[in-house]
Amino acid sequence: MTKNALIRIVDLQKSYYDGETELPVLQGVNLEVYASEVLAVVGASGVGKSTLLHIIGTLDRPTAGRVFYEEHNVFDLPDRDVARFRNERIGFVFQFHHLLPEFTALENVAMGALITSPNSGAVYEKARELLDYVQLSERLEHYPSQLSGGERQRVAIARALINQPKVVLADEPTGNLDRRSSDSVLELLWNLNVKSGQTFIIVTHNQELAQRADRVVHLVDGKVV
Ligand SMILES: Nc1ncnc2c1ncn2[C@@H]1O[C@H](COP(=O)(O)OP(=O)(O)O)[C@@H](O)[C@H]1O
Ligand SMILES: [Mg+2]
Repeated sequence: MTKNALIRIVDLQKSYYDGETELPVLQGVNLEVYASEVLAVVGASGVGKSTLLHIIGTLDRPTAGRVFYEEHNVFDLPDRDVARFRNERIGFVFQFHHLLPEFTALENVAMGALITSPNSGAVYEKARELLDYVQLSERLEHYPSQLSGGERQRVAIARALINQPKVVLADEPTGNLDRRSSDSVLELLWNLNVKSGQTFIIVTHNQELAQRADRVVHLVDGKVV
């Protein structure tokens, strides 16, 4: 076993089923992710990158195989504990921001912590800090519809960080942005990694992002090569 593997993925398999028909997507993925690294995952469209990220993030269960976080197989836990683990330890940034339209930027960021924290004052304080960090302190009370694409994605990053997750999973975080917004989101992710030592797994088509990552893995035919 390699030292320092924060996440160890062992023979991970995932198939989707349409009635009797099996669509095998992940066919034995083995991968180790180290603490504080930025790992880029690349691969053709439809190869299973999002599927892999969702399973690493415990949003979905594999058909077979294991995902160890610090040597504990997270899928040994019952669903309720998996959900708590996810909420406390993992932050998500998706290609489309998934902000809730009827809540302000500040509320969207705070929400993930209000579920578990009794101290809403402290949560809103932290949410303000994060929005300040992503340079949106002038946009706290704006609704998603009042923000640009890049601004929404920065809100989504702030939201992902509210519980200070050890691991941040990002699925094509710049895939939907113009060049300038994309650059500012990339810069932000980089500074975060340097500043906080969080571990990032980023699915991307962005060459620049992949080049700056500590490591790039390719998903081909259901396997990591
Ligand atoms: N919930 C689902 N049900 C059935 N098939 C799915 C589902 N999600 C993804 N797929 C299929 O699995 C394959 C991999 O999808 P995905 O992980 O989204 O790929 P990628 O992110 O690399 O583009 C695709 O063929 C897709 O159509
Ligand atoms: Mg995808």
